[in-house]
Amino acid sequence: MYSSDFGKDFLWGVATAAAQIEGAANSYGKGPSIWDTFSKRPGKTKKGHNPSEACDFYHRYKEDIALVKTLGFNVFRFSIAWSRIFPLGNAVLNQEGVSFYHNVIDECLKRGVTPMITLYHWDLPEALSKEGGWTAFAINSAFNEYALFCAKEYGNKVKHWIVINEPFGFTSLGYMLGVHAPGQTGVSNFFDAALHTAIAQADGAKILRAEVKDAIIGTAFSCSEIIPYTQSGQDLLAAKRVDALMNRFFLEPVLGMGFPTAEWDVLEKFAVTHSTWRHQERMKFDFDFIGIQNYFPLVIKYNAFVPVVQAWEVKAKNRRVPHTVMGWEINADSFYRIIKQFAAYPEVKNIMITENGAAFHDKVIDGKIDDPERTEYFKAYLAAMLRAKNEGVNVTGYLAWTLMDNFEWAEGYQARFGIVHNDFKTQQRTIKQSGYWWQDFLSK
Ligand code: GAL
Repeated sequence: MYSSDFGKDFLWGVATAAAQIEGAANSYGKGPSIWDTFSKRPGKTKKGHNPSEACDFYHRYKEDIALVKTLGFNVFRFSIAWSRIFPLGNAVLNQEGVSFYHNVIDECLKRGVTPMITLYHWDLPEALSKEGGWTAFAINSAFNEYALFCAKEYGNKVKHWIVINEPFGFTSLGYMLGVHAPGQTGVSNFFDAALHTAIAQADGAKILRAEVKDAIIGTAFSCSEIIPYTQSGQDLLAAKRVDALMNRFFLEPVLGMGFPTAEWDVLEKFAVTHSTWRHQERMKFDFDFIGIQNYFPLVIKYNAFVPVVQAWEVKAKNRRVPHTVMGWEINADSFYRIIKQFAAYPEVKNIMITENGAAFHDKVIDGKIDDPERTEYFKAYLAAMLRAKNEGVNVTGYLAWTLMDNFEWAEGYQARFGIVHNDFKTQQRTIKQSGYWWQDFLSK
């Protein structure tokens, strides 16, 4: 299997995110983001790691983009740190930040790499968080102002856009479970944040459509195949609830179907209290591609003691199935099935895998960074994607997560997902064996 098996127009890229790679978090006029402040709170990230230096991409973007090219990828996905452009969230502009992204874009174009911008990859300006962040209705006008600025500023050079990275990911981890920034908890915060995010997702896309000529606009959903632990009625219903939350909750409003409230009274109540039907038109957008990001399937069991969802995950390690160092099950067939699940909506015309990858403990053997598990992972997942494509699913691109080891949110610098190793003391990049595998795969 080589990249040519996927057709000549297929997009191959690496995905990254500003807070995870840039560093220079407190310099060059950048305002703090919620990840800068959250990571400084005791116990919130492993070993108290924070993103202030990360991979120092801010100073090393030229070498890193050269590396993307050397490996043979034709797309570089990166996100804009909102607070680097608007340190206080809106109104006051930081010209130095604006220029930085011009430099990144120009470097990509110079090297013949297509830049793909994510507008929001989780690093909300702290100033906006203080005013309620995603739970406050005012976030929508702030986000639209930011989106409009980016569209006007970069739209003549950048055609590929992703509006929001994993709406379910950051609203659930950051506003319901409190394990990601800004560390808020509770179902009510989650539902407020979710509604405003669903609105922002479509608003941002409409702004890009109006401002950017020939734009190719997508948004990126996390997804996981949900497998009931047993065929008992209770397990089946628990799996259905989790599926509604994790796979359907943010997708269906985009498709004009509203939130998937029918089968679950909790969602029904949310829809009623937030009058979500009033926003149905606003949350809808005909995206050029639907980005899906898959890392694991979930096996779900009924559990009466878990509030709201009454469901519990049966972990991969307890089921003794292969998993990564994150504890995430490795299951390429499940990747195939979730692609099919998303493709089954007639309104989904084009799917791009906007993230997929794995963290392992890499070994240094004879000066080489040896990561055979990661290479095997990619081989299996790409074969699964090819199977779906050959069966008629319109998959048009694949972005590996990720270029280099980086700041993995609450896991700090310990979880390494890169196909390039990064030494965080020296910022030395070393291509892993999986990176060389990619280079070969992409060369033919
Ligand atoms: C995604 C997220 C990325 C990255 C990846 C691996 O959910 O968008 O930023 O952290 O998971 O955990």
